[in-house]
Amino acid sequence: MATYDLVVIGTGPGGYVCAVRAAQLGLKVAVVEKRATLGGTCLNIGCIPSKALLHASEAFHEAGHGFAAMGVNVPAPTLDLAKMMTFKDEGVDGNVKGVDYLMKKNKIDVHNGAATITGPGQIRVSRATAEPTDITTKAIVIATGSDVTPLPGVTIDEERIVSSTGALTLPKVPGKLVVVGGGVIGLELGSVWSRLGADVTVVEFLDRLLPGMDGEVAKQFQRILAKQGFSFKLSTKVTGIDSSGPVLKVTTEPAAGGAAEVLEADVVLVAIGRRPYTEGLGLESVGVALDARGRIVTDGHYATNVPGIYAIGDVIAGPMLAHKAEDEGVAVAEILAGQAGHVNYDVIPGVVYTSPEVASVGKTEEELKAAGVAYNVGKFPFTANGRAKVNRTTEGFVKVLADAKTDRVLGVHIIGPDAGTLIAEAAVAMEFGAASEDIARTCHAHPTLSEAVKEAALAVDKRAIHM
Ligand code: FAD
Ligand code: NAI
Repeated sequence: MATYDLVVIGTGPGGYVCAVRAAQLGLKVAVVEKRATLGGTCLNIGCIPSKALLHASEAFHEAGHGFAAMGVNVPAPTLDLAKMMTFKDEGVDGNVKGVDYLMKKNKIDVHNGAATITGPGQIRVSRATAEPTDITTKAIVIATGSDVTPLPGVTIDEERIVSSTGALTLPKVPGKLVVVGGGVIGLELGSVWSRLGADVTVVEFLDRLLPGMDGEVAKQFQRILAKQGFSFKLSTKVTGIDSSGPVLKVTTEPAAGGAAEVLEADVVLVAIGRRPYTEGLGLESVGVALDARGRIVTDGHYATNVPGIYAIGDVIAGPMLAHKAEDEGVAVAEILAGQAGHVNYDVIPGVVYTSPEVASVGKTEEELKAAGVAYNVGKFPFTANGRAKVNRTTEGFVKVLADAKTDRVLGVHIIGPDAGTLIAEAAVAMEFGAASEDIARTCHAHPTLSEAVKEAALAVDKRAIHM
C-alpha cells in the first residue's frame, strides 16, 4: 500500500500548488483527482477557458469596431465559433499539460479517481473501471473546490439552461441570452456572448451589480455595460423557467414581490454563486465539521477539527478565487513542513476580466463607512491619462482610499484598461503597509496606464498633476 507524508485531494489551483510546495520542502506527496484532467475548475471549466473566450471575443469585437479608427481596414469579421472553441480548448489543454509536467518534475504521484477518507490517514481511491485502491498518509489536505449553486425549481441541462460550464461550450450564439445573477460569472460570460452578437439581459436579485465590489465602481460598470448593449433588471428574481417550447419563458418578479413578467430567451445562464463541494469525501463518517453554508471549518492553520485533516481553497471560507486557493496551498504546505505559512486576507485582489476590467484590493468605501474608519479618497480618471487617451481606452478611473490619520492605503479600486494588471501594484504597496504618499512619490514610467495609479495616490492629497 502506498504511504505518503501528504495526500492532497483535488488538483485545482489550491491542490496542485499545495502539492508542489510540499514536494519542494521535501515531503513525499500524492494527489488524487477524479476529473480526467488535472487543474480543477479553474483550468478546465473556469478561469482559463473563460479568459480564452473573453480574449477571442474581444478580438472579434475590436476587429469589427475599433480597427478602422486606427486606419486598419479589414473586411467585416465573420465568426467561426467552432474555431474559437478550439482556440479555447487548446489553451486549456496547454495549461492542463503544464500541471502534469509540474507533478512529474516534483515527483508527485497522481492517483486518478474519487477519494473517500475512510479513517485517520486512510484514503480510498475509487474508479469506474477498476478496483478501488487504498493509500495511507500522515496528513490529508482537502482541496475539492466548489460547484454551481442551483436555482431552486430550475433544472440546468447545460444546453438551453446552462451553468458557466455550458456557457463555455455553446454550439451557436444565442439570439437572446438571459443571465440570472449580476456577479462575476454573469458579467464575464455575458460579455463573451454579447460581443459575439447575443442580446443579453441580466436579472439580478440585488439593486446593484457585483455585490462586494466598491459601489461607485459597480455603478460606472453598469453604465458602461449598458452602453455595450446589456439590459439589466435589478432588484428582480427569477421564479421559474418554462422550457416546454422552442423559446424559454423566464418568469421574473420584483425581489420585494409584485407583478410577474415573462422574458423570452434562447439560452439562460444561471450564475448565482458557487457552493463548496464535499460530496463523496466521507466527511460525516470521519467527523469533519462543516459550517451552515457547507464549508469545511478550519482554524488559522487550515486544520479541521479532525487531527491530520486540513482544507483549503473554495471548500473553506473566504473569496472563491484561484489565487486565494493557491496562496492557502502554499501556506498549508509550509505549515506541514514545520514553517510559518500565512495568507494576508486583507490584501487579496479581485478582478473581473471584462472590457474594461474591474479590479479591487482591500476595503471598499462602503466597508470603511460601516467600520467607522475615517479615510481620504484620491480619484483619477483614465480620460486624463496620456496612454489611455492615445489608445482611446479612457473609460473608468482609479480610486485610492487612504486612512485619514496615517495615510496608509486601505483599498484601491480600478475600472479601466488593464485594471487587473494595475491592481498588482496596489497589492504590493498594501502588503508593505504603504501610505498613499509612497505610491505618489514612486517614479512611474511614462506613458503608462500605471501613471493613473500614481495620480490617484497624488489626488489623495489633492495634488494630482494632470487633473
Ligand atoms: P477547484 O479548482 O474547484 O478544484 C477542485 C478539484 O477537486 C476538482 O478538479 C475536482 O474534480 C476535484 N475533486 C473534488 N472532489 C474530489 C474527490 N472526492 N476526489 C478527487 N478529486 C476530487 N478565479 C479567479 O481567481 N480568477 C478567475 O478568472 C476565475 N474565473 C472563473 C471562471 C469560472 C467560469 C468559474 C466557474 C470560476 C472562476 N474562478 C476564477 C474561480 C476559481 O475557478 C476557483 O476559485 C478555483 O478553481 C478554486 O480552486 P480549488 O483548488 O479550491 O478548487
Ligand atoms: P457571484 O457571487 O459573483 O454573483 C452571483 C450574483 O447572483 C450576485 O450578484 C447575487 O446577488 C445574485 N443572485 C443570487 N441569487 C439570485 C437569484 N435567485 N436571482 C438573481 N440573482 C441572484 O457568483 P458567480 O458569478 O456565480 O461566481 C461564483 C464565484 O466564482 C464567485 O465567487 C467568484 O469569486 C468566482 N469567479 C471569479 C472570477 C474572477 O475572479 N474573475 C470569474 C468567475 C467566477
